[in-house]
Amino acid sequence: MKSVTDYDVVVLGAGAAGLFCAIEAGKRGRKVAVIDHAKRLGGKILMSGGGRCNFTNMFASHENFLSQNPHFCKSALSRYTQWDFIGLVNDYGIAYHEKTLGQLFCDNSAKDIVDMLLAECKKAQVNIINRCEFVSLEVNENGYKVDTAMGTFCCESFVVATGGLSMPKLGATPIGYKIAEQFDLDIVPTRAALVPFTLHEADKQVLAELSGISVDASASCNHTTFNESMLFTHRGLSGPAVLQISSFWQAGDSVHFDLSPNQNLQAILDEAQKAHPNSQLSSVLSHHYPKRLVQTLLHYFQIKNKAIKQYNQKELSEVVYSFHDWQVKPNGTEGYRTAEVTLGGVNTDALSSKTMECKSQKGLYFVGEVMDVTGWLGGYNFQWAWSSGWCAGQVV
Ligand code: FDA
Repeated sequence: MKSVTDYDVVVLGAGAAGLFCAIEAGKRGRKVAVIDHAKRLGGKILMSGGGRCNFTNMFASHENFLSQNPHFCKSALSRYTQWDFIGLVNDYGIAYHEKTLGQLFCDNSAKDIVDMLLAECKKAQVNIINRCEFVSLEVNENGYKVDTAMGTFCCESFVVATGGLSMPKLGATPIGYKIAEQFDLDIVPTRAALVPFTLHEADKQVLAELSGISVDASASCNHTTFNESMLFTHRGLSGPAVLQISSFWQAGDSVHFDLSPNQNLQAILDEAQKAHPNSQLSSVLSHHYPKRLVQTLLHYFQIKNKAIKQYNQKELSEVVYSFHDWQVKPNGTEGYRTAEVTLGGVNTDALSSKTMECKSQKGLYFVGEVMDVTGWLGGYNFQWAWSSGWCAGQVV
């Protein structure tokens, strides 16, 4: 016979949001269990930020998030802020640094953050049950009955913290959306975001030669621009500017790249015509870009390489235009296999922005990435996990 255990709160998903919610609820004296099917706890946190976890952003605000309801995340972000989380990190003496644009990374390892969360769980007497397959959820007169491969758990409050679809290898499943559908909640269509672009074969053949080269660039699509770096890969385009703009890109759109976002190329070439008229265009450009990039892009843009004095104004403008407004139509993205996050999810209209509780179903909560709140690249997604988890943790 399967065992039946009573809890006040059962959280499904031991990721950032689920653990944070469980900690807060446990601190209030609630008897909490967190269930997860993963073998290893905090797998995504350990992988994040190249192993150093970009755990928050000093400038986090609602403006750094995408959602059908852009106001939804305001309340949670202001009730549990990045400074609150930084305070916790400081309490644990975890060393960190700002890498760029307010992004805070661990000096040593993302494991510091996982260890901190597990220590907090222990203090709050949260029972974490991993390698546990979720089977079904039923509502009864006392609350919820959660069937799993490791027994039945009964609880008053049930929290869905199962994240999005990105990185199935790390345990991502659509179970959170299925549970939402069981309660007739609307799901905003999901798609991979913060994800590299793949290229059409003709572009790929030429540009794959640049694999490994990173340049400063601004990427623009659908009235949004990010000025960061971009990386050429053997499959297509990646790097922060590309990952950021991927969240705003729809299939079929072109992306505009300015490969000289901080310098006026026209002025540079005009100056070179005066000062070094016999220099080849490629050697002028090679003062500003890696040589391999210049050679490949001149070929790709079908620009003939000759002495700079031999270009007339129209030809020079074409060079400038090619580098300042390179338009690429991606073939697609690398999809959930490599995406950092999932756009869309449980429609926030159905949820309280203060508590994350489902308006139509008492005791049912959604926290973290499973809902339709998606942050930019830069620590915003973890901040959403902490903030939304914290808010639910005060009331579950
Ligand atoms: P999360 O996905 O973390 O947790 C969900 C949990 O639910 C998992 O443990 C999973 O095993 C469990 N689960 C799913 N289905 C289940 C089922 N059927 N039964 C039982 N358990 C189930 N963000 C950021 O701010 N800074 C960063 O540096 C990075 N870096 C980064 C790198 C990589 C490689 C990825 C993939 C993602 C990031 N992110 C990030 C995004 C960030 O990791 C993400 O937004 C948060 O982890 C979301 O937290 P959640 O707790 O909502 O879901």
